[in-house]
Amino acid sequence: MGSPALVGLDVGTTGVKALALSADGEVLAVATRGYPLSTPRPGWSEQDPEDWWRAAESALAEVASGREVAGIGLSGQMHGLVTLDESGRVIRPAILWNDQRTAEECAEIEQRVGFERLVALTGNRALTGFTAPKLLWLRRHEPEAYARIARVLLPKDVVRQRLTGDWAIDASDASGTLLLDVEQRDWSGEVIEALELPSVWLPPVLESPARAGAVRAGHERQGTPVAAGAGDQAAAAVGVGAVRPGVLSVVLGTSGVVLAPLPAYAHDDEARVHAFCHAVPGTWQAMGVMLSAAGSLQWVRDVAAPGSPFDGLVDEAGAWPAGAEGLVFLPYLAGERTPHADPDARGAFVGLHVRHDRGALVRAVLEGVAFGLRDSFDLLGELGVEATAARASGGGARSRLWLRIVASVLGVPLELTESEEGSAFGAALLGGVAAGVFADVHEAVERCVRVRDTVEPDPAWQETYAGLQDRYRALYPALKVAR
Ligand code: XUL
Repeated sequence: MGSPALVGLDVGTTGVKALALSADGEVLAVATRGYPLSTPRPGWSEQDPEDWWRAAESALAEVASGREVAGIGLSGQMHGLVTLDESGRVIRPAILWNDQRTAEECAEIEQRVGFERLVALTGNRALTGFTAPKLLWLRRHEPEAYARIARVLLPKDVVRQRLTGDWAIDASDASGTLLLDVEQRDWSGEVIEALELPSVWLPPVLESPARAGAVRAGHERQGTPVAAGAGDQAAAAVGVGAVRPGVLSVVLGTSGVVLAPLPAYAHDDEARVHAFCHAVPGTWQAMGVMLSAAGSLQWVRDVAAPGSPFDGLVDEAGAWPAGAEGLVFLPYLAGERTPHADPDARGAFVGLHVRHDRGALVRAVLEGVAFGLRDSFDLLGELGVEATAARASGGGARSRLWLRIVASVLGVPLELTESEEGSAFGAALLGGVAAGVFADVHEAVERCVRVRDTVEPDPAWQETYAGLQDRYRALYPALKVAR
């Protein structure tokens, strides 16, 4: 048995990923366990928290098998509402980050708190996927369930509760509830009161690398320290080393994200990008979030080539020139957050020609997602963010073509770290800080995160994409008129 491992557990949308890491950043083992997502009505998106726990237990057991584990860190899909009753039982399926049922409640929140005050306090406007509007939705539509609530948790914190018996949240994930005073890094009494929500439902807020208890008695890993952890985007930023201003984190997961570490709290007055606490204590981050990034690629695969491997499809896309002969894709398949904050936004292919084949559709999807990321990138620029490089992670980062497209659309080199495991890798580093293996997050990053490759923008593509970006931007308002 070598030196003790650090384990990161990422509770994602399609499954849990567990990763065991050595203290010098070598990935020792990775295990994933999938689970279903249920969409009982259009725009709804739910999961059973029991599935998360079962998957996490099983993936943890696999990567920890035969190893001593020094510390565990958690990361997870943000914003999901989990409600527990007095005896700790889950009341109803969790309502996820990409659920769009709460437009009415979002308007109510902005009216109750006042738009400007809400943005100043929470760094954000009320968005359908965030947690607070879901509580108001339950109060209105499922009063019996609402009346039984004793506790509210986010997805990764359900796994913590089962693993350690502790009840906690971290500041980065809490930022996505719309109930946190993001500058003060604690719950906002003012917002909670304005929404008439009981503050006793909410767990204590810790910093991400802080120790939030240890694995409970009776468990095979009993006594192992567990870090507070982070929302998946903050954890991914830690995992690629985007922990200081200047280096962005770009995630091509189900959702697509451009995240910039900030040295001090700052928010966009119109809240077009999110302002959240970062997983590095005392720092913040701003980010733009697209709801369907790799989710769009999965969709086009499922409709145009069900069951086909992604690699072959992406090769077909690579046979088309940049711009796919005028075909543009809008990736708003599940509504959109940044920059439109519009749950009713819809996707589109515009500019179809009889020459276009499946590869052209895929190319347009890859490019459309990149244009969406550029919208977020430009909004971050308006906040004063300057970036010399961006680091990529998420399933989509395995495609060289997609990375080249994104680098060319953003106009910055995309760096790849040795591990593309993003959130689970970052969670393991947080676990290492909580266990005392690293002094702090910066030391963890210095010791474990290494850039292995850089994908440069293609000058010819950059020119093509600069022209197409305007066309892409003109399509959302044009199609809005048509709906
Ligand atoms: C971030 C967000 C998504 C989810 C799912 O605000 O909603 O990135 O965390 O990964």
